[in-house]
Amino acid sequence: MTQVLICHVDELPVGERKIVELEGKSIGVFNIEGKYYAASNTCPHRGGPVCTGRVGNELLADFVGVGLRVKEHFGPNLVLACPWHGWEFNMETGVHLGDPQISLPVYTVTVQDKEIFIEI
Ligand code: FES
Repeated sequence: MTQVLICHVDELPVGERKIVELEGKSIGVFNIEGKYYAASNTCPHRGGPVCTGRVGNELLADFVGVGLRVKEHFGPNLVLACPWHGWEFNMETGVHLGDPQISLPVYTVTVQDKEIFIEI
């Protein structure tokens, strides 16, 4: 594993993302509510730019009875949705929400002296 400098924390404020090219890989680095995440920007489905997609909390639905609408609510897990066909991945683990056999590579992010690094 190699630590690679991405940027100073001031260059990636809360709510922003940065797409970088490292060693031939496109990688998205995110600041979500002060926590940093990094993932491959190549969707395992058909190679779409997954890190340009929507980020939000996982939408969950509870079965409440036959013939009744499911009760929807947002769960604690953050999800990244690919803009091409909507595949969704857990931001923390990269695992696909519908099929745990599929995953998006994710990277460890660290901050040292206000500089953001990822391990690739
Ligand atoms: S390329 Fe990402 S969902 Fe199809």
